[in-house]
Amino acid sequence: MKVLVTGGAGFIGSNIVKALEAKGAKVIVLDNFSHSGYKNLFDVKAEIICADILDESIYKKLPKLDAVFHEAAITDTILKDDTKMMEVNFNGFKNVLNFCVKNNIKFVYASSAGVYGEGPSPMKEGQKCIPHNIYGYSKYLGDCFVRELWKNNKNLPSIIGLRYFNVYGPGESHKGSSASITYQLYLQMKKKLNPRVFNYGEQKRDFIYVKDIVNVNLEALNSKESAILNVGTGKARSFNDIIFILNKEMKSNLKTEYFDNPYKDTYQNFTESDTTLLNKILKVKADFSLEKGIGDYINNYLG
Ligand SMILES: NC(=O)c1ccc[n+]([C@@H]2O[C@H](COP(=O)([O-])OP(=O)(O)OC[C@H]3O[C@@H](n4cnc5c(N)ncnc54)[C@H](O)[C@@H]3O)[C@@H](O)[C@H]2O)c1
Repeated sequence: MKVLVTGGAGFIGSNIVKALEAKGAKVIVLDNFSHSGYKNLFDVKAEIICADILDESIYKKLPKLDAVFHEAAITDTILKDDTKMMEVNFNGFKNVLNFCVKNNIKFVYASSAGVYGEGPSPMKEGQKCIPHNIYGYSKYLGDCFVRELWKNNKNLPSIIGLRYFNVYGPGESHKGSSASITYQLYLQMKKKLNPRVFNYGEQKRDFIYVKDIVNVNLEALNSKESAILNVGTGKARSFNDIIFILNKEMKSNLKTEYFDNPYKDTYQNFTESDTTLLNKILKVKADFSLEKGIGDYINNYLG
C-alpha cells in the first residue's frame, strides 16, 4: 500500500507516518517544513517531499496512491495572518481533496473541534458551528466543502473528516506556544516552577492522546464509509486535573498559580465530544484516559 501524508513532518502527521510504516505501508511525506518537528522523522523510511500544498504542480509529480492523510495546516490558532490561514487551511485543503477526487483516492483529513466555537456540549457533528477564530472558520469551510461535494456527486472515493479535539502526546515539542496545555505545564513543572493556568483551572476540554488519534486514522483507512466525525474521548477534563496527574507522575507537589485569561473573547472554555458517530461508523473508542495518556507520555517519552 502506498500512502501520502501531508503535514507528515508535524506532530500528528509524524505519528501517523510511523504507525503506517509499522503496518508495512510505503509512505510519502509532503510537508513544506514551515512548522515541522523534523526530528520526529529521524527513524522513518518515508520518501520526503519538501513542497507546499498550495503548489498545484506538485500533484502531477505524485505516484499512484491508495490513500491520502491530510494533516498539513497552519495550526497556530492565534496567528494574526488571516489570509495565510485561509490560503493554507482552505485553498490548500481543496487542492489535496480535488487531487484525491480526480484520482479516486481515499481521503482522510484533519478537521478540528475548533469548528464548534462556544457551541453547546457534548458537541455533535450536526449542530450549528460558530467558530470563534479564523482557524476554526478555515476548518469549518473545509467540512462545508466536503458536504457540498457529497450533495452534488456520486461515485466519490471514501472521504473521512476527523474533528480532533485537544490532542497531546509525543512529537509536539516543535509547536512551542501552540503545543498542548499538558506539554506546556510539563515544561514548567520540570523546571520546578509552579504550574500557571488561567483563573481558576476549571476550564474543561476533551483531551485526547495522540495514540488514540493514530488508531482512529488507521480505522478510517480500513473503512469504506464517508463521514465527518468527532474524535475525542467523550469526557471533558479540567486543567486542574492535568496538574494533579502531572504532579503524581513527576513525583512533585507544586502549587498552581492562577492568572487572568487574555484571550477571553476567543477562548473555548468547555469542549466535550459526542462520540456516538465515531463509535458507530469506525467502531472505535479512545483507549487512553487522561491518567493513562499522561502516564504513558511522561514515563515513555518525556522522562
Ligand atoms: N494538535 C491538535 O490538538 C489538533 C486539534 C485539532 C485539529 N488538528 C489538526 O491536525 C492537523 C495536524 O496538526 P498538528 O498538531 O500535527 O500540527 P503541526 O503544526 O505539528 O503539523 C502541521 C504540519 O503541516 C506543515 N505545513 C504547514 N503549512 C503547510 C503547507 N502550506 N504545505 C505543506 N505543509 C505545510 C507544517 O510544516 C507541519 O509539519 C492539522 O490539520 C490541525 O489543524 C490538530
